[in-house]
Amino acid sequence: MSPNDQKRTAAEAAIEYVQSGDIVGVGTGSTANYFIDALKEIKGKIDGTIASSEATADRLKSHGIPVMNLSEVGGLPIYVDGADEATHNLHLIKGGGGALTREKIVAHASEKFICIADQSKLVDRLGAFPLPVEVIPMAQSMIAREMVKLGGQPELRTGFTTDNGNIILDVYNLDIQNPVELERQINQLPGVVTVGLFAIRGADVLLLGTQDGVKKY
Ligand code: 5RP
Repeated sequence: MSPNDQKRTAAEAAIEYVQSGDIVGVGTGSTANYFIDALKEIKGKIDGTIASSEATADRLKSHGIPVMNLSEVGGLPIYVDGADEATHNLHLIKGGGGALTREKIVAHASEKFICIADQSKLVDRLGAFPLPVEVIPMAQSMIAREMVKLGGQPELRTGFTTDNGNIILDVYNLDIQNPVELERQINQLPGVVTVGLFAIRGADVLLLGTQDGVKKY
């Protein structure tokens, strides 16, 4: 099974978690796109969606799936999104698609976060994938220096602006021994909008598409 088929089967398995009348938080990226395509088939069953990016909102709307504003809804029962890396503890690196801030907001607002991914995303330790950090533009150099102090090598994601009008630093070669502590440490730096570590609020379920079918962690 190709990586894309693994993503699709994981996304389709996540549909089982969607209940009648749910408002569904929807992530961003190629795996989330498979979920959106599967959601189209049951769109009459749900009350609406909360999108984690403009791209996701556009795809949902193109399928005739209603997109709502997070501030207008009370609670969010479920959020479904992909990841760049996931551990067995369900700690994640996200933000390869640059949507990490809205993804973290929707994840935080959700009762249940279902992460969907292909087999290649499961790792023993986070950090082979460069850690995305969304930064207010005026703080770029200062935050880059802070990332060097933490042992990383920051690179500006060129030609990219987030949906919130900010930049992304991709930080290579960080030694992420304690994802919860590192998330706290980077979060509190002035100028950082969001770090792409999802460990304080990780996933609740990981559905991993593999050669042998979808595995649940
Ligand atoms: C976007 C994300 C994505 O979930 C992550 O990059 C995985 O993408 P894909 O499903 O295309 O492999 O965090 O900001």
